[in-house]
Amino acid sequence: MSEPRAAAGTGEDHHRPRFHLTAPVGWINDPVGALRRDGRYHLFYQHNPHGTQWARPHWGHVDSRDLVHWRHLPEALAPSVDGADADGCFSGSGVVTEEGAALLYTGVRGPVGPGQWQATCLATSRDPGLREWRKAVENPVTPPPPGLALTGFRDPFVWRAGDGWHQLVGSGLVGRGGALLHFRSPDLRRWEDLGPALVGEDEHVVGEWAGMMWECPSLLQGSDAAIALVSVHDGDTTTHHAIGIVGAFDGTTLRPERARRLDLGPDWYAPCVLDDDGRWLVWGWSQEARGPAGPARAGWSGTLTPARVLTVADGWPRLDPLPELGRLRQRRLCLDGATVDGSLRHENAGASLDVELTLVGEQEAAVLRVLASPDGEEATTVTIDRAAGRLELDRRRSSRAEDVSADVVTAPLVVPAGPLAVRVLVDRSIIEVFAGPQPLTARVYPVRPDSCGLELAAPTATMASLVVHTMGAGTSPP
Ligand code: FRU
Repeated sequence: MSEPRAAAGTGEDHHRPRFHLTAPVGWINDPVGALRRDGRYHLFYQHNPHGTQWARPHWGHVDSRDLVHWRHLPEALAPSVDGADADGCFSGSGVVTEEGAALLYTGVRGPVGPGQWQATCLATSRDPGLREWRKAVENPVTPPPPGLALTGFRDPFVWRAGDGWHQLVGSGLVGRGGALLHFRSPDLRRWEDLGPALVGEDEHVVGEWAGMMWECPSLLQGSDAAIALVSVHDGDTTTHHAIGIVGAFDGTTLRPERARRLDLGPDWYAPCVLDDDGRWLVWGWSQEARGPAGPARAGWSGTLTPARVLTVADGWPRLDPLPELGRLRQRRLCLDGATVDGSLRHENAGASLDVELTLVGEQEAAVLRVLASPDGEEATTVTIDRAAGRLELDRRRSSRAEDVSADVVTAPLVVPAGPLAVRVLVDRSIIEVFAGPQPLTARVYPVRPDSCGLELAAPTATMASLVVHTMGAGTSPP
């Protein structure tokens, strides 16, 4: 594989997001290991620094004081030749300890596939900046329990409870469905098997399709309910989606009550959580929706969505944009008014935008076009139809390029009684639409340099307000 070109600034590459994280160079998949220590947030990510395709993952590392301005740091973990992680440091989680911090990750050996050996490994850091990580001599600390026919054993999620450290490992029982395997430890090194915390039935969980394997699990416990997040894997090469399972957790097992998708778009997977003093933050991976040539040319592949705020609302999982994103706002475009008559246009709005649209009337529909060329050859269209209860993202004209996804994504729109607030985050090659409890995330690749227009079309006398801000960059070099 050829070395990816080091990214020399983002000026030329108008697909590289500005406030969504990308690797300085190479491939990104899952965000992992989020933790907060000494006033800084640390986030890690599955990284191939040697190419723009997935291979032999390392753990890339960024930190931030405010969740929106991030700094790239040296790689935290790399596979050790002859180690328990010789073929990759797969996903896992991070925790703060008395000595510093610890990463629990998946060491793998052997080629990807059903026979690959996977086990939990431990690395610790004592330095204040968490730059240096030392792998435990005991590794692996948690091998797969014997006697179970498992579809995988990876992506440990660790938290501290009154009776010690707990670990959930993403897995699946052959013939049944996804599984969360549960372990407990006094010291992060010796783990006792507590049995499964939850197992799917017939590849479902409370009616929701959940595949044969659960990747990247996490568990959050609120005062009213617990919620597990899992990424659905089905033994194939398709990247599916993540679901939230709301239920009751008794310290050992989770009794599921409701489950549904967390994001309704095609390009959001492998969420990673941080319980930030009771506020639940969730990052996700947005994979490319284009062929391999573009990333190979650009030197990077994949991006992470900024933290979203997770709540359980009326018993269901809900994701909202991070309030701190407001700090990246730059210019305010004058597009707001009380009534939209026909259409509002701004031909040079920009390609990194924070769009707030409020539809006041109960029956109103609106069509928002972003990343639009002046002649309309390229544009991504978001249709919000309150009367039909439908949200639609049309990528058929998003790009003149041929090796990109070009479909129409539709989702039900949960219509509130009062005004409907829609938020659209646009960042060059990624769009996140928030119009209810489940966002919709998709990648788009306009090729024309003038595809930076914005238009709102609505029937005459639609009561709406539209506020648009351009967004600044969220990362800086180490
Ligand atoms: C999810 C995943 C994880 C695994 C990692 C490897 O995208 O497949 O299950 O640990 O990616 O990079």
